[in-house]
Amino acid sequence: MTSSGDPPVTDLSTLSGRLEGKVALITGGAGGMGRAASVQFAAAGARVAILDIDQQQGESAVAEIESFGASALFINTDVSSATQVEQAIAKVVAKFGPITILFNHAGTIIVKPLHETSDADYDRLMDINVRSAFLVCRAIVRHMLEHNGGSIVITSSIGGEKGFALESLYCMTKGAVLQLARSISTEYRQQGIRCNAVCPGFVKTAHGLREIDELDGLGQKWNEADLTDAQVRICEANEVASAALYLASDESSFINGTALYVDNGWYAKG
Ligand SMILES: NC(=O)c1ccc[n+]([C@@H]2O[C@H](COP(=O)([O-])OP(=O)(O)OC[C@H]3O[C@@H](n4cnc5c(N)ncnc54)[C@H](O)[C@@H]3O)[C@@H](O)[C@H]2O)c1
Repeated sequence: MTSSGDPPVTDLSTLSGRLEGKVALITGGAGGMGRAASVQFAAAGARVAILDIDQQQGESAVAEIESFGASALFINTDVSSATQVEQAIAKVVAKFGPITILFNHAGTIIVKPLHETSDADYDRLMDINVRSAFLVCRAIVRHMLEHNGGSIVITSSIGGEKGFALESLYCMTKGAVLQLARSISTEYRQQGIRCNAVCPGFVKTAHGLREIDELDGLGQKWNEADLTDAQVRICEANEVASAALYLASDESSFINGTALYVDNGWYAKG
């Protein structure tokens, strides 16, 4: 299906073999786009480790993956905690062996005018969106340096490049992780580590729907009809997961340091 009509349904059987033999760690892999990626990566043949704070959704993601015969592991982990990240990675390696793919996806949003944003808001969003990426990527780069490289995908956002009113703090965090992706790509390419970013527009997840509600509540207009001008329709979680799968896989072997906009032309349009 096209970018304008009904969104495509992902046929998991078509993914078979694309990540055969890989071990993928997905932060925020229990919900939204992370969940869609957990399922797609597993259907593509990877053994998938989900690090998330949502126990119930994490366990249900593992059950969904195991229902089609693939392997997954959930570890309840706050990825802004260095200790929890280190312990979780050790558990993943003990169960599945060396990690060859990282999808660094966990994150959240605060919608608020900058002049009303508190120090606590700043600390919280920087911890969840930026400190977590630093901790997880640092640990995984160290690990990949010892195990012949791998592929890292970081979730930024169209707000990592564009500026959006009521989202100054959020855009700041997404710009930070986009620059992290670019920097890792140049720093470690000779060691076989690739790193790219996905930059989605509005996606139909708990995060995206809350964001739209809160922006609308503060006077902007981002309900489904008003999205038309920006991106024609709302994006589905599976469409971002497909982009992440491509970047994670060997199919994108010479793509490194790129920002892949998953936004139906919104960024290009200006
Ligand atoms: N939905 C959108 O419109 C949109 C657009 C661009 C970028 N993003 C990015 O996507 C991510 C949000 O994901 P989503 O839209 O799939 O929403 P979501 O809220 O459904 O999923 C986010 C997942 O991250 C987990 N998480 C949150 N804090 C965590 C922590 N400290 N440790 C571990 N796990 C944690 C949540 O439990 C949840 O499972 C963020 O990085 C956000 O910047 C979202």
